[in-house]
Amino acid sequence: MKKFESILITGAGSGIGEAIAYCFARQGCRLMLVGRNTERLEAVTKQCVALGGKAEWRQVDMSNADSIDVFVNEQREQERVFDCLVLNAGISQRALTLDTDILVDRKIMETNYFGPVCLTKKLGYMLKSNPYTAIAVTNSISGLFGFPLRSAYCASKHALFGFFETLELENDNIRVTFLIPGRINTPISKSAVLGNGETYGQMDSGQAHGLDVGKCAEIAVRAIEKGKHRQLIGGKELLMVYFKKWVPPLFRHLARKVSAT
Ligand SMILES: NC(=O)c1ccc[n+]([C@@H]2O[C@H](COP(=O)([O-])OP(=O)(O)OC[C@H]3O[C@@H](n4cnc5c(N)ncnc54)[C@H](OP(=O)(O)O)[C@@H]3O)[C@@H](O)[C@H]2O)c1
Repeated sequence: MKKFESILITGAGSGIGEAIAYCFARQGCRLMLVGRNTERLEAVTKQCVALGGKAEWRQVDMSNADSIDVFVNEQREQERVFDCLVLNAGISQRALTLDTDILVDRKIMETNYFGPVCLTKKLGYMLKSNPYTAIAVTNSISGLFGFPLRSAYCASKHALFGFFETLELENDNIRVTFLIPGRINTPISKSAVLGNGETYGQMDSGQAHGLDVGKCAEIAVRAIEKGKHRQLIGGKELLMVYFKKWVPPLFRHLARKVSAT
């Protein structure tokens, strides 16, 4: 089991990122918490310190390369080194494929795919010189198959597999763990985008009945520390992964029937 000293977490102000921050804080780790909502980041930072960690936060918009630049330049100037990156920030979608404006597709790709890719490349100077870096990528079971109302979301999560698996194959000192949640009880459906770009704003019943986020984080952190290549996290919805692989016609039947909200 690898233990980490200095961890960067994106999307740390809520949900899975917040819960992962608390797990690492309990171990006394040094945390850099990143997101856009400064009130949430401040609250999570305080809680991390109360739990025994050392924590700081920075406002970074993962869909904006300039914002990522400012953040990385500061880390470089201050010679901060991270031995674990948790690339977790993301937004979801609630709209039919043909009713989703292309700008919405791009926004989801910018946040979920180009954001972590851009951050990783800009941190390349550190990744090349670190003896070992763990990179945890919060993917999704929607990265393993298509699912109604999630075309751009699924596409962004599929793309993450290709990029980060390749990165790992090219670098012996980088270990990638794909965290693959099913349904976890977080506010992600609230910030999901509709086809016209507006925010969906509702807590989906599927989300509300998902796995407890604290349990999700414990499983995630154990997987990162063990250096596992992938970790499924969730409840019975994970069966869809096996149906897709072994019984594709059953998967297609169920994916049309299962509630997407
Ligand atoms: N919950 C689930 O059932 C589930 C299932 C599969 C995968 N996932 C994945 O898990 C990850 C975390 O989601 P969650 O469920 O914990 O939902 P969440 O609570 O909504 O967390 C998403 C986080 O991403 C941050 N974020 C969104 N856009 C950003 C941007 N442009 N720049 C910086 N940060 C941004 C948000 O913070 P700010 O608003 O502060 O920016 C928020 O803290 C996501 O990648 C999601 O796709 C979740």
